[in-house]
Amino acid sequence: MKKFDHGIIDVLVAEDQIKQRIADMGKQLTADYADIDAPLIVVVLMKGAFVFAADLVREIQLPLHMDFMIVSSYGDKTESSREVRIIKDLQEAIHDRHVLLVDDIIDTGLTFKKIVDLLQGRNPRSLKTCTLLDKSGRRETDLDVDYFGFHIPNKFVVGYGLDYAQSYRNLPYIGILDPGAE
Ligand code: IMP
Ligand code: MG
Repeated sequence: MKKFDHGIIDVLVAEDQIKQRIADMGKQLTADYADIDAPLIVVVLMKGAFVFAADLVREIQLPLHMDFMIVSSYGDKTESSREVRIIKDLQEAIHDRHVLLVDDIIDTGLTFKKIVDLLQGRNPRSLKTCTLLDKSGRRETDLDVDYFGFHIPNKFVVGYGLDYAQSYRNLPYIGILDPGAE
């Protein structure tokens, strides 16, 4: 049986750093949405954002609803396939609602931009974007992210929801995978 952290060569963001940053993001979001008149709709991109979103919403002290989308862009490789498929769409209508779209990591931004455009087409009252990790050096679109946790270098990372070939999502920190182990 392999250890659950086999192949991790470095910790990029430690568990307590993540916790502190998410608490700050939650305070900011609570302040920014304090005056809205209907529950905020938090849309989580699965699977990668599930851990981040679970911690983040517990730091937002406002009425909110959760909804989930599953999109696929990577398959089991570490290079983007440049294709975005919607596998599961939202259950709630977002027309005239305040929507916060939450993702784990924005790399080229191509996946996220496609989802943003799709959701904008449903005419929400507002649509803001939130990601835990931002590899901004790799951006290939003019996407602006409203809330981010950490800017990170161009390394393939796993843990805290992020996977390599579906493994490592349960690591409590963001780790760097040994390129030889990929
Ligand atoms: P983008 O379209 O290039 O921005 O790809 C974004 C998606 O690719 C993310 O939502 C992740 O699912 C995945 N991804 C990008 N970089 C990494 C990484 O370093 N580790 C794990 N998944 C990643
Ligand atoms: Mg993703």
